[in-house]
Amino acid sequence: MRRRLIAGNWKMNGVRDSLTELDPIVAECETFTSEVLICPPATLLPLMANRLSGSGVMVGAQDCHPNPAGTHTGDLSAPMLADAGASHVILGHSERRTQHGETDSLVNAKASATARAGLVPIICVGETRGEREAGIALDIVAGQVRNSVPAEPDPEALIVAYEPVWAIGTGLVPSLSDIAEMHAHIRSLLRKEIGESGGHRIRILYGGSVNAGNAHEILSVANVDGGLVGGASLKARDFLPIIRQSEAG
Ligand code: PGA
Repeated sequence: MRRRLIAGNWKMNGVRDSLTELDPIVAECETFTSEVLICPPATLLPLMANRLSGSGVMVGAQDCHPNPAGTHTGDLSAPMLADAGASHVILGHSERRTQHGETDSLVNAKASATARAGLVPIICVGETRGEREAGIALDIVAGQVRNSVPAEPDPEALIVAYEPVWAIGTGLVPSLSDIAEMHAHIRSLLRKEIGESGGHRIRILYGGSVNAGNAHEILSVANVDGGLVGGASLKARDFLPIIRQSEAG
């Protein structure tokens, strides 16, 4: 049984005042069977970890450097993020791949560094609109999974997020059958690469314009083990209904 995970990605949004958005989530979270994670900007990590302490709601980071320490101005390492209270790190998000030129091999190195620090990497993959229209989405994502996921990972401590680039922040969502096809494809690839049992246990999230109106049907698709939510994670009034949809079955 793979436990569902609903993860919020605040991206470059949020200041100290935004932490009040956590309170209604904390008030309700004792009833959740799904795991809930929020990934704020790094400036809020320790504050958020403090505020969520003991609640069961987890805190994650949005990126890390592959090295544990050193001469890397402006970067943060996985051990530093662990020290700040993070339990997960989003890696290889398409915004990092396009805006910072991140490659699969860099994402792979970051994922290994994350795991070494005792944190769970959430490795993002996904095709562009052009790649989908050209009929090569499955191949593109297969290549990203093969090259970004480190060899011999702990399947309980690694998550893959399928986020079609064209669905992020656009309000566009693939058809449920396209989501099912891609998630089944990633599942069978993980089984092949990591072994039957490990490949079965790795959770695969869907991300890209998830909201309270579509969460229930997306989360009902086979091999969708949760959601990675951007815009709709910023406000409790948007995020909580998504978590409730996850609880509803
Ligand atoms: P969105 O972002 O939910 O705003 O589309 C998802 C993501 O980028 O993780």
